[in-house]
Amino acid sequence: MAATTKMKWLDYAIFGSSVFLVFCLIFNSFIVLPRFVTWLGHWHPLILHFPIVLLLLSIFLGLTAKQIPKPLMATATFTALITAISGFFLGVEAGAKGDLLFWHQWLGGGTALLAALWYWLDGQQLQHKMYTKVLQVVLLIVIGLTGHYGGMVTHGEDFLAFPSDGIENDIPDNPLIYKDVVAKIIDQRCIKCHNSNKKKGELLMTSVTDLLKGGESGAVIIPGNAEESELIARLHLPDADEKHMPPEGEKNLTASEIQILERWIALGASDTLQLSHLDNSEPLVALIDALKQPKKAQKWKDLPPITDEQIAQLSSDYVTIKRIANAINALSVNMYMPPEYTPEMVQGLQPLAENIVTLDVSGLPLGSLEMNTIASFKNLEWLEVDRTPITDKETDTLKALSKLSTLKIYDTNIGDKSLLTFKQAKNLKQIYLWKTAVSPAALEKFKLEKPSVLVHKGIEPEIQALFAKKDSISKN
Ligand code: HEC
Repeated sequence: MAATTKMKWLDYAIFGSSVFLVFCLIFNSFIVLPRFVTWLGHWHPLILHFPIVLLLLSIFLGLTAKQIPKPLMATATFTALITAISGFFLGVEAGAKGDLLFWHQWLGGGTALLAALWYWLDGQQLQHKMYTKVLQVVLLIVIGLTGHYGGMVTHGEDFLAFPSDGIENDIPDNPLIYKDVVAKIIDQRCIKCHNSNKKKGELLMTSVTDLLKGGESGAVIIPGNAEESELIARLHLPDADEKHMPPEGEKNLTASEIQILERWIALGASDTLQLSHLDNSEPLVALIDALKQPKKAQKWKDLPPITDEQIAQLSSDYVTIKRIANAINALSVNMYMPPEYTPEMVQGLQPLAENIVTLDVSGLPLGSLEMNTIASFKNLEWLEVDRTPITDKETDTLKALSKLSTLKIYDTNIGDKSLLTFKQAKNLKQIYLWKTAVSPAALEKFKLEKPSVLVHKGIEPEIQALFAKKDSISKN
């Protein structure tokens, strides 16, 4: 290697961390980490900015055939490796977060390893060779993709999971029926199980072509014939039927969403059809018009105004704040565990108290200070406090949340007393409850007394198996 002796230790560090990263990636699901190490993972959202900037700078110099200073490349590579490793620690702690995290992890690991490869090639004086250029371009793409998936891990999916009543936002004046309307319904209600990572029933729903290909039982759409289309038939089955789509526990399509899919199929399931092509007498016209009514804007029109500056001020690497939709003052907030947690992190949201309608603080070491703050978010509809140390004492404050409809509170220390509190929540529609101190008898009683509340008692079996495996390893 052409490194000066001064650089030697960094070379060793880069080599060592590359090997360690490869190990992490390969043995991903078998590893259980001690607390201190998971704490290191909490630095990930902060440090990831360094390698991105440094790598982009190096790539820019490389592609413009300038000399890349050795210390720059070494630091870029080393911070990329550290970022990937810390991200891996963070991921292990998060348990199973699904396909997005999976891709983000591999792409992030790939970024760091590609950087290490490039660094090594550079040390061999091969920097002007064609393949170094190719490598730089690939690296650029991989960095972009990593960021994209990372962004979706932190905001994307949760954002989509918000229980909206429809797809009324962002419909253009003359929408393409498939892209602007149908695909949005599918993205909201179906795509999470019917995409290229997770292809339930062998059915892909990511494009018209895929939809027309059908699934394991053959065609699911017959253009021009909605009644005979398997996809539509399944939407109409009773909820309890195991072929009903979406499956039990998922939010059903609204009647008008089903009608939209039906009319779209009846009109030939085309991806070029536009609203302006249709006669006014075609039911789709009225259905789409109705969607455009700003229902949400109506629902939240009385919330106190909030500016983008205020949102930016209260946001950080560990606090993501988003509007539910453009120009609407209802907010969705996600929090992530920082290296140095204090209750002020949650308490700091107080200025937004009336604007927050969805809040995810799962995994944070919450106590009564934070729960009291949360109890003042009187418009809160969706709350995730799972995997926190809260007990019956803290849930008592949740009584104040009269609009709460979804509560994720699994893997906590709550007991039967909390159920009595939740019984008073008038608008509660679903609760995620497992790994708590709630007794089976109390739960049965709750279900009898609150039949309108859907009680989720577990996660998907494959994920549960993963937890079980981790538990048994950590108990040994
Ligand atoms: C939570 C996961 C999940 C969601 C959400 C979901 N599906 Fe499915 N889907 C499945 C599973 C699992 C199967 C395979 C078992 C079966 O055939 O019932 C399936 C199968 C299907 C099939 C049959 C494919 C074939 O050829 O056998 C159709 C059609 C379908 N889904 C349509 C939909 C539609 C439309 C939506 C959205 C409204 C949707 N699914 C949402 C899990 C899901």
